[in-house]
Amino acid sequence: MADIQVHQVRKSYGKTEVVHGVDLAVATGEFIVILGPSGCGKSTLLRMIAGLESVTAGEISIAGRVVNDLEPHERGCAMVFQNYALYPHMTVAENIGYALKVAGLPKADRLAKVASVAASVGLTEFLDRRPGQLSGGQRQRVAMARAIIREPAVFLFDEPLSNLDAKLRVQMRHEIRRIHNQIKATSVFVTHDQAEGMTLADRLVVMNKGVIEQIGTPEDIYHHPASVYVAGFIGSPAMNFLSGQISAQHHAVILANDARIDIPAALAAQHDGALTQIGLRPEALTLVPAGQGQITATFDFAEETGPAKLYHFRFEDLTISVLSPEKHDLQHGQPMAIKAQPDAVHLFTAETGKRLTAHDVARERVPA
Ligand SMILES: Nc1ncnc2c1ncn2[C@@H]1O[C@H](COP(=O)(O)OP(=O)(O)OP(=O)(O)O)[C@@H](O)[C@H]1O
Ligand SMILES: [Mg+2]
Repeated sequence: MADIQVHQVRKSYGKTEVVHGVDLAVATGEFIVILGPSGCGKSTLLRMIAGLESVTAGEISIAGRVVNDLEPHERGCAMVFQNYALYPHMTVAENIGYALKVAGLPKADRLAKVASVAASVGLTEFLDRRPGQLSGGQRQRVAMARAIIREPAVFLFDEPLSNLDAKLRVQMRHEIRRIHNQIKATSVFVTHDQAEGMTLADRLVVMNKGVIEQIGTPEDIYHHPASVYVAGFIGSPAMNFLSGQISAQHHAVILANDARIDIPAALAAQHDGALTQIGLRPEALTLVPAGQGQITATFDFAEETGPAKLYHFRFEDLTISVLSPEKHDLQHGQPMAIKAQPDAVHLFTAETGKRLTAHDVARERVPA
């Protein structure tokens, strides 16, 4: 049983602060994914939990014990990196069992445990090979097995799949999740790949420039992104953003060129006149006959994605992308009408990029 509590943690290198007061509570057995672009502080946060970096300010607890001043090996964490160093002269079995050998476990017990852990990650038939005789994915599984055999209360992963090809990444992602469902160790997994994060996480932590922008289930974050930043980072193909002004009279956001997107009446009433960024996911847009749409845009080009096609349009000086499972035969420059599903419209303040909700507005207005 090991929960992780991160309280107001900061990290500076010299005079530069790179993690700015992060709060995070990971429940026992939970699988958390920290997601964010390169340089946002993901590895730094993970390495502070592992004890590989000191904490400049704040407190980290694991299993109810403050670990700020504990050595990495005293924290009960196992870490799996992108570049996992296996011992090249040892067999897979020896690599997996090495920590138990060092710990002085009798050989029979050791072999039994190695066999059981190897089976759990599908390595039974490779036990006698050396790392040089394995594929990248198999080597990654050895690295996982080597960590699992120590029975850590906490698993820390830093982009462990980045070196694998696309297909293997997806396979290993499934295996990591399957192993987690079996052993239920508290896990923190760092990645910049939003698809990887979405599929692996019980809860996602979206980071931006050393702060946490949002914490929530993948579903929650996808449907209720807290900011333009999160909305743009989560989801593929990426969300479209348009600027407009909210009109209570029209229950809509008024865009350039008489285009308008319907929004819920309560929201429109509370924000009448406000400048907004409207977010529309490509899969929430449909192409409709002329006159029935909310936006008229000119067709630019299309991309095949397999199950659906991604149609790109020009609207003012912006691109609007529409993901459609239907085949449309369009000519470059042809005007088309686009309609948004009203329940799939996201609104953010033009000023701060934070999400606008009816609830927030009600709360803001109470004290006035
Ligand atoms: N040892 C160090 N000394 C100085 N600055 C550092 C050091 N380690 C990291 N940084 C800086 O801290 C910031 C966060 O780095 P970090 O490695 O945590 O990013 P990241 O989110 O893991 O990025 P990536 O996805 O590229 O791995 C970066 O601006 C980086 O340059
Ligand atoms: Mg990193």
